[in-house]
Amino acid sequence: MNTVLIGKRGQLGTELERALSGKGGKVYAFDHQELDITDYQHTNDVLTRIRPDIVINTSAYHVLSECETHPEQAFLVNAIALKNLAVTCRDNKIKLVTYSTDYVFDGAKGKPYTEYDCPNPLQLYGLSKLAGEFICFNYNPDSIVIRTCGVYGGQKGSRQKGGNFVLTILEESRHKTTIDVSTEQIVSPTHAGDLAQCTVALVEQYSARGIYHLVNEGYCSWYEFAKELITLNKLSIRIRPIDRKGVFSGIKRPLFSALTNTRAKSEGIIMPSWQDGLKRYLWYITKK
Ligand SMILES: NC(=O)c1ccc[n+]([C@@H]2O[C@H](COP(=O)([O-])OP(=O)(O)OC[C@H]3O[C@@H](n4cnc5c(N)ncnc54)[C@H](OP(=O)(O)O)[C@@H]3O)[C@@H](O)[C@H]2O)c1
Repeated sequence: MNTVLIGKRGQLGTELERALSGKGGKVYAFDHQELDITDYQHTNDVLTRIRPDIVINTSAYHVLSECETHPEQAFLVNAIALKNLAVTCRDNKIKLVTYSTDYVFDGAKGKPYTEYDCPNPLQLYGLSKLAGEFICFNYNPDSIVIRTCGVYGGQKGSRQKGGNFVLTILEESRHKTTIDVSTEQIVSPTHAGDLAQCTVALVEQYSARGIYHLVNEGYCSWYEFAKELITLNKLSIRIRPIDRKGVFSGIKRPLFSALTNTRAKSEGIIMPSWQDGLKRYLWYITKK
């Protein structure tokens, strides 16, 4: 099983390269500079030259405020470029795997969302990712779109996002005594390592296609997640609960966007709990 991995320096890309490397097939991993999915000709040249069995696309334009100010770029990377990937993969019999987000939902359900729930994004980022889902399946019904939530991974986190939630709390705990963390947003924070392992398990099932949710099991507020983090790392910083009513920097976020892995579970793919994912990530980033 030969794989082309797009976005190898991202949180998920780093973990996918690791997860795929023990699997026997060849992994052709590209960073943003080496393969930009908005450069269609180059992308097609690479894919038709390598002719892998699978393409895993981890790329995204996903800083919420930048999606609002640069909607053309958000739609280009998160949606329009997927047409080219979907068509090229379809025409060359390559399985396409790409990622979407819990932000396709509005949070009104108040319970974890399954793959069968109806999306209703509240901001440009979610809209562009939902458009990407539709484009993928419209041009290549055999694609896999994996929706995930609150991803953290790698030593440095996401370059675009300037890290991740865990690294931010650890960094702030070095020079602050108190930090404010929101209580109102309920999420399923997900360790990129677990997401990568289960992505690989999913693509190994030849028949997998359509939308899958893959998040660490369970859900919590960002406040509860931060409390667990400081307990596990024995930090002395105080976490102050605040309620931003889902609006931060003028951008609406779903109040309840936890996901449930209904399809993956029914196919025997089990994600560990969010507490377990966090424990292993803390061990990984503090062991060096
Ligand atoms: N992070 C989260 O909390 C979260 C939540 C839900 C869903 N997701 C989805 O999960 C996936 C992986 O997220 P992540 O946290 O691993 O993101 P990440 O750490 O920011 O990694 C994304 C990678 O894609 C690269 N990239 C960006 N634009 C590209 C383009 N046009 N062509 C090729 N590569 C490009 C980035 O390179 P540069 O850094 O150089 O731009 C980066 O290496 C994304 O689809 C994201 O939407 C993430």
